[in-house]
Amino acid sequence: MHCLWDNMPLKKICCIGAGYVGGPSCAVIAYKCPHLDVEVVDLSQERIDQWNSDDLPIFEPKLHEVIQECRGRNLKFSTNIDQAIQEAELIFICVNTPTKNYGIGKGRAADLKYIESAARRIAAVAKSSKIVVEKSTVPVKAAESITDILKANVKKGVKYQVLSNPEFLAEGTAIKDLLSPDRVLIGGEETPDGKEAINGLCWIYEHWVPRKQIITMNTWSSELSKLAANAFLAQRISSINAMSAVCEATGADVSEVANAIGTDSRIGPKFLQASVGFGGSCFQKDVLNLVYLCECLNLPEVAAYWQQVININDFQRRRFANRVIECLFNTITGKNIAILGFAFKKDTGDTRESAAIYLCKYLMEEGAKLRIYDPQVKHTQIMSELTEPSLSRDPDTVSELVSIHPDPYTACDSCHALVICTEWDEFKHLDYQQIYKKMLKPAFVFDGRMIVNHQALIDIGFHVETIGKRLTRKNINRQVAPAAQ
Ligand code: NAD
Ligand code: UDX
Repeated sequence: MHCLWDNMPLKKICCIGAGYVGGPSCAVIAYKCPHLDVEVVDLSQERIDQWNSDDLPIFEPKLHEVIQECRGRNLKFSTNIDQAIQEAELIFICVNTPTKNYGIGKGRAADLKYIESAARRIAAVAKSSKIVVEKSTVPVKAAESITDILKANVKKGVKYQVLSNPEFLAEGTAIKDLLSPDRVLIGGEETPDGKEAINGLCWIYEHWVPRKQIITMNTWSSELSKLAANAFLAQRISSINAMSAVCEATGADVSEVANAIGTDSRIGPKFLQASVGFGGSCFQKDVLNLVYLCECLNLPEVAAYWQQVININDFQRRRFANRVIECLFNTITGKNIAILGFAFKKDTGDTRESAAIYLCKYLMEEGAKLRIYDPQVKHTQIMSELTEPSLSRDPDTVSELVSIHPDPYTACDSCHALVICTEWDEFKHLDYQQIYKKMLKPAFVFDGRMIVNHQALIDIGFHVETIGKRLTRKNINRQVAPAAQ
């Protein structure tokens, strides 16, 4: 059999894109494969400088320790993209694939311009054969476009095999997910060269992942499986959030319902946590991507089905904001509202598509003054999200209405209400007695994550509202009664 990859086992790999996926996933590869040289490259000098410093560009538990162990040993971060491509036998493409905000497919299709430019760069500078691994989340058949670009520009003696290897890590648990993944997915061609490339990538993962957990399949199945996995996960959250609205209207308790259905082994307990709505860089983008794909495939019913997952998420965020406004006597103009948590989930500083952004937008539209605290999100990041042109047409008003605070206590000072948007553990253990004393009365808590002890807050004197559960005055009195006896 003709050997496409003379240098097996691999000696050097590179990753184009030093983001939330490229950085942690290559750090773990370097950690687990100490004899493999791993270089992560990016166009952004600033991002690379951060990866080379002690102030990493992303917050992720245990990431710092892994980087400390490997950086300078077999892990390197640089902007020398061309050199890294030339030296590597295998190249991961980990660039961003955001929702397109212009032209055909605007607001739904994935923008593949960064993928294309990475593929064109490989085609332009490669002098030897490469395995090119698409790790970014892409629509089905993107690997075919990468192959077309590479093959149209091929040089003598250079061959390419393009594999799909979608990443399933979740932010906040990236290192844990990478070290013990449920599975690794690899899609490739059924040809001898394709199989050899798949074996090359398997060899990397087999350093720490049992072979039976590495699933190989055709490229398109692999690409679609990633979109399908995120769509199914997002669908579970929208399903439980839809139930939370029914609970609030009837007196059922969504946590009890989630527990009841989650103990059915066919359903399972995970991803049934009702919330103020899912956020993050992936769910909305990937479900919209699937919707667009279905429309292009002339499957409007399938597109409408998945679109509904997004619609329920929008509804949930709006519904929660409306509840804040209604409870505060239908007017929040000039009222101080503390926003606890701005990241899209705990243990990350990422704010992409965070429910907090939308909540702040709705409250600002009613003229509320927002006092924001998040333990990991930088001041500039919050302001940049809130002044984003599609969100707010007037950055001056945002500056007038928003202040950012270094701790939750000053954020809550003189507030009419506090709204928990992110499930940071520290919010469970705040001194709410102290917070209550400094708030205006009646003092409201809106728990968008169902994380605090509602009874304890009610006992302090707060008026508490949460997702998927009615804590009416009558309920409060009933719950308070035993403590008063
Ligand atoms: P990111 O925006 O954090 O990082 C992408 C990086 O690629 C940026 O630093 C950017 O400067 C760089 N880049 C863009 N074009 C480049 C080019 N031509 N050459 C060199 N560098 C280039 O994105 P991310 O969150 O890491 O996501 C990357 C991909 O992984 C996306 O397709 C995403 O859907 C997917 N994904 C993300 C997650 C997640 O939790 N964030 C999880 C699984 C999959
Ligand atoms: C997601 C997928 O989980 C991961 O497999 C994929 O690779 C990338 O996209 P991520 O967006 O990082 O990961 O975080 P995830 O834990 O999935 O949470 C997404 C959003 O859903 C967060 O806003 C989270 O708070 C919310 N969520 C999650 C709920 O509201 N309820 C739940 O039960 C679970």
